[in-house]
Amino acid sequence: MLTVHDLTVAFGPTTAVRDLTLHAGTGTVTGILGANGAGKTTTLLGIHHRVPRRTGRITLDDQDVTAYDTTALVRAGIALCPENRRLFPNLTIEDNLLLGAYGQGRVTCRRRLERIYGRFPWLHGRRDEAAGRLSGGQQQTVAIARALMSEPRLILLDEPSSGLSPVAVDEVGQVLHDIAAEGTTMLLVEQNVRLVETLCTTAYVLAHGRITAHGPVAELLGTDTVSDAYLGTAG
Ligand SMILES: Nc1ncnc2c1ncn2[C@@H]1O[C@H](COP(=O)(O)OP(=O)(O)O)[C@@H](O)[C@H]1O
Ligand SMILES: [Mg+2]
Repeated sequence: MLTVHDLTVAFGPTTAVRDLTLHAGTGTVTGILGANGAGKTTTLLGIHHRVPRRTGRITLDDQDVTAYDTTALVRAGIALCPENRRLFPNLTIEDNLLLGAYGQGRVTCRRRLERIYGRFPWLHGRRDEAAGRLSGGQQQTVAIARALMSEPRLILLDEPSSGLSPVAVDEVGQVLHDIAAEGTTMLLVEQNVRLVETLCTTAYVLAHGRITAHGPVAELLGTDTVSDAYLGTAG
């Protein structure tokens, strides 16, 4: 469904991502692994056109969306759940959620909120609380729910487990598992190997802005190169 062809993103003299080509099949969860600074975040930002691309072609279901800006990409069905969640801690949970449906009319926003509250009833109970009062895992769930507010076909997820306790990682993993089970395609940047093993069928390994390996997760994680050199921890 998503194909990224020859993506290059540079920040001045630093080429963060170079000639990157990847594919995410419909309904699959595809992992992107790699050490800090490998270019994972830049890859997602490049796909979502939040940073200028030097080269690269993006297609979504055979539709060339290369020229689309971020707003048009969201409308086409691609949502980003960004690194460090990026909630507005002083805004209410509901207002944070509504940002995910920015530009939609009142009726559509309401309908989408109801769907979110149906999925996460506890969010409904706490909808008027400041998002900053929630635990890390709950905040991550709000960030995922905000992405769902655009009713995406594809979600780009940037390290949803980062900074969370093991229990919270499991909770977020369950949320992602449920969303994937409904057929939503995901591109998942993660350093948590167990989460990748649980959720992803295939994965790409990034190092210094380039893809150095890709294949079925079971095979990739079985290799010492990946677990030692790129992930640091094997479990
Ligand atoms: N806005 C930016 N300006 C300059 N350099 C950047 C910027 N964002 C990322 N980089 C650099 O690009 C490289 C890849 O960063 P990033 O994509 O954040 O890696 P990762 O998400 O894998 O940790 C790093 O060397 C980083 O310092
Ligand atoms: Mg990153």
